[in-house]
Amino acid sequence: DWTTGSVIEEQVTAIRELVGDKRAICGLSGGVDSAVAAALVQKAVGSQLTCVYVDHGLMRKGETEQVEKDFVAATGVQLKVVDAQERFLDALKGVSDPEEKRKIIGREFIRVFEQAQAEIIADSGPEVEFLVQGTLYPDVVESGGGTGTANIKSHHNVGGLPEDLEFQLIEPLRKLFKDEVRMVGQELGLPDEIVQRQPFPGPGLGIRIVGEVTKERLDLLREADAIAREELTAAGLDRDIWQCPVVLLADVRSVGVQGDGRTYGHPIVLRPVSSEDAMTADWSRLPYDVLAKISTRITNEVRDVNRVVLDVTSKPPGTIEWE
Ligand code: XMP
Repeated sequence: DWTTGSVIEEQVTAIRELVGDKRAICGLSGGVDSAVAAALVQKAVGSQLTCVYVDHGLMRKGETEQVEKDFVAATGVQLKVVDAQERFLDALKGVSDPEEKRKIIGREFIRVFEQAQAEIIADSGPEVEFLVQGTLYPDVVESGGGTGTANIKSHHNVGGLPEDLEFQLIEPLRKLFKDEVRMVGQELGLPDEIVQRQPFPGPGLGIRIVGEVTKERLDLLREADAIAREELTAAGLDRDIWQCPVVLLADVRSVGVQGDGRTYGHPIVLRPVSSEDAMTADWSRLPYDVLAKISTRITNEVRDVNRVVLDVTSKPPGTIEWE
């Protein structure tokens, strides 16, 4: 019979046996899966684990700090943070095509991660033999061939495997579903902001800016997104919605009025959806007063945004993300 306690105990024993006195590396993405996988391995082998977090500058407000401070405080894990913001911005310069963005972000991520890996190995000698991955049961089933759903967008999971891999994998979540992973994370004492986090795409805000990705646009979108999340949380709606992408239409401008001046700013799109598994989704019927609050705050507080629109498209035909 299944309890979080027994899962943890079983995994810790197995990991200890496997790793012995060798060393392991784990990439953290800010998401639930990699955090819980890392916390389990940390519990098993302590400082024999080093985590790597690539800061690509495409995270939402506060998320990097959650990893750097809260996750480290909760687990005591050894963490190497790589600030690669400039590098990603440079690589994304002039690029508007969604698939092109995904490819660039995925490619740069792997390069930066491999470099960090090489540095850790250089520091600690050849005894680094294990790579920790937050693979879940549904991922295992999916990559096992399964039903072969059409690959509509290329999905990159940040934390994606380098190709010329010479590590053994540790995948302590291979038998678990998402809700079980959350329970394990909670039992391990991880912060709620990480354990209860809704899905967020690997390429981050890079695919929520329709148009070229720039530092200014990222900062603007981060503000708008933080307001939407804050109000949804305050209204107690986090459990009712699957996720709510906030999208900046950077290539669109519309006319508005503020005080006695004309404005010519960008729209922000709210895309709240309900879903079971992200394969299909419906747009969430959020209370009007919550939408009104979010709209008022975003247009008042975020410079260059003069309009907030609601996406009322189901999936299909729309995807959850705009890119
Ligand atoms: P779509 O937009 O295809 O998204 O309806 C379905 C779910 O997948 C997430 N998503 C991604 N996750 N890397 C990820 O790790 C990606 O490139 C990516 N693209 C979309 C999306 O947030 C939704 O939960």
